[in-house]
Parts: sequence; structure tokens; C-alpha cells
Amino acid sequence: MAAGGTATPEDAPDRTRLVVLVSGTGTNLGALLEAAQDPAWGADVVGVVSDQAAAGALGRARAAGVPTDVVPLDAHADRSAWDQALTQAVLAHEPDLVVLAGFMRLVGPAFLARLGGRVVNTHPALSPSFPGVRAPADALAYGVRVTGATVLLVDEGVDTGAVVAQTAVPVLDDDDVASLHERIKAVERPMLVDVVGRMARHGWSTSPTNPRKVLLP
Ligand code: GAR
Repeated sequence: MAAGGTATPEDAPDRTRLVVLVSGTGTNLGALLEAAQDPAWGADVVGVVSDQAAAGALGRARAAGVPTDVVPLDAHADRSAWDQALTQAVLAHEPDLVVLAGFMRLVGPAFLARLGGRVVNTHPALSPSFPGVRAPADALAYGVRVTGATVLLVDEGVDTGAVVAQTAVPVLDDDDVASLHERIKAVERPMLVDVVGRMARHGWSTSPTNPRKVLLP
């Protein structure tokens, strides 16, 4: 696949190199690893990078034989040094596409300068509603009746990038944060697998009339 995401059918047979960034339990990573076992999906997870040494996701990566790196924020002098170390850790795997799958930190300017345009994030809300790291709790507190999951391109804002795909999830009267987040994750995982596979196989572009809109062939 062409870096930068322009659809180039002649590149379709190439397997896309995915690097996945994680901070937590890694069920989304698990879904990507499982999908990658099917050659027809079109992508390989070639590296997993975390800011948390204790992230359960790292165990899933190791069990699948995928190289891992840990780049903790507090091991660096400041956020800029961390941003540069994270960028180098990801670039070392020569990714075509980077997936933030439960990565709970904002990537910085160095990261976006080298990798911007080929980074997607999965977020447990219908963007632009409820950005940040507490989206299911914020949706519940607000009282919305429908929330969901969004795959979006990553820009310099907090969950402000162009939307690639969304799935709605109803909020039930007896939901708590855990039950709502679990139901969101149940739709989030297959959506992420579907979107990443399509991006890997066919590339993507932004609408000529609306740069906020990502088109998947
Ligand atoms: C997912 O729901 C993901 O959308 C969310 O963290 C969860 C990670 O689950 N990410 C964010 O909230 C980022 N703003 P997982 O570790 O089981 O994949």
C-alpha cells in the first residue's frame, strides 16, 4: 500500500505493515492480530508500542510473536523528548499505517511530522462528541441516548481528525460505565478490523469537496 493513503490498486497485493500503539488491555489489538492471521485481510502487525510497561496488550503481542517496545513518558526529560523517542520506536518498524488502539496519550508534533496522514485512532464515542480518555463516562454523565465508536485519522487535536467510520450504540437505562464501554467495544473491534483491512488493501483518500470526510474505495 502507498504510504500517505492514496488508493493505488497496483499496490493491493502488498501486505501493509501495521504498528499498533496501546496503553491498556488490548482487546482491539487482539482483534487486529486475529485478523492478520488471514492472508486475505492484507496487513501484518509488525510492531506494538506502548507507553505503559504493564499494559496487558503487550502480553497479547508477545504471545503472537510480535516485537514490542515500551516508551514511558516519565522516562523522558519532557514531553518533546518522549514524542521523539516514540516516533523513533514506531519508525523502526517501517510502518505503512499506525493504529492507536487504546493509546491513552496524545501523540506530539514530531510524531505527526513523520507519520501524519497514516495514523488512525479508535475512539469510544461518536466524534466530535466526548473527546478524550473518559468518553463512555462522559456520555453517561451527559445523558445521551446514543453513543458509539469512531475510527478517525489522527491530527494535532484531541479526537478531532477526519472521520473514517462510525457505529452507533444505544445507551441503556441501567448502563454503568463498564457495561456501556463493553457494548461499545463489541462494535468497535469489528469496525476497526474492517476499516484497517480496507485501508490496507485499497488505500484511502479524502473527499475533494470535504477534507473532513475520508473515502474508502
Ligand atoms: C477502547 O475502547 C478505545 O476506543 C479506547 O480505549 C479502549 C481500549 O480497549 N480509547 C480511548 O478512549 C482513546 N481516547 P482495549 O485496550 O481493550 O483495546
